[in-house]
Amino acid sequence: MFPSTMLVQKLSGVTLLLLLCQHACFLSACDDAKQSVTCEGDSASLSCGSGFINVLCANYGRTDGETCSAGKPPGQLSNVHCSSETSLQTTATRCNGRESCSVPAVNSVFNDPCFGTYKYLDVAYECLQSKQHITCEGFRGDITCEEGVISVHYANYGRRNLATCPHELATTAHCYSNRTDRMRSRCNGKKSCHVLASNSEFSDPCVGVYKYLEVTLLRMSLSMIRIRR
Ligand SMILES: *[C@@H]1O[C@H](CO)[C@@H](O)[C@H](O)[C@H]1NC(C)=O
Repeated sequence: MFPSTMLVQKLSGVTLLLLLCQHACFLSACDDAKQSVTCEGDSASLSCGSGFINVLCANYGRTDGETCSAGKPPGQLSNVHCSSETSLQTTATRCNGRESCSVPAVNSVFNDPCFGTYKYLDVAYECLQSKQHITCEGFRGDITCEEGVISVHYANYGRRNLATCPHELATTAHCYSNRTDRMRSRCNGKKSCHVLASNSEFSDPCVGVYKYLEVTLLRMSLSMIRIRR
């Protein structure tokens, strides 16, 4: 009797801890954030009227029994500890630095973290006031800051929509490669930097597709710069 009570207490302690952690994440990082919940099979639409998307939290899976439960059998709702490990990275790769984006809440995008459970994509994001630089493949980009110094928020070399840098080889909007580190090491802290948007510079994430370099910059205030010194 006693040991089993201990187990229940332990278990509920773990559950409580998990819930608290999740809540803390949403309170601290995602407090003023926009929320988007999309049931499996639909597409999440994130948008910032002005500014650029920065994804703070994302989970494709199931962490409660109520969300997206209408008409579903209990067996598909009972696992509430279901998370796809790639949720944040996948969502951010598609959306960071863009004014809007859509992400299908499907297993083919996130891999199936819990077979047989009906899932949903839960995203918290903020809209940053930042500046965007586009450089079409083969051209030299000149990134300059009139005020302060460059601070790269996100960089993608590839293609995340069809309209930018139009070309007959603009054949997909799903060419992602995170080049944030590379652009940060080249440009952060400088007043200007130059970079060739090319495969030799960034390596080719999708052969045969005409690409572009997309860089969003954070607008650093003077007080932020002062703190950094
Ligand atoms: C992109 O790369 C940066 C630097 O390595 C990393 O901090 C960030 O999480 C990455 N973003 C995504 C969406 O993978």
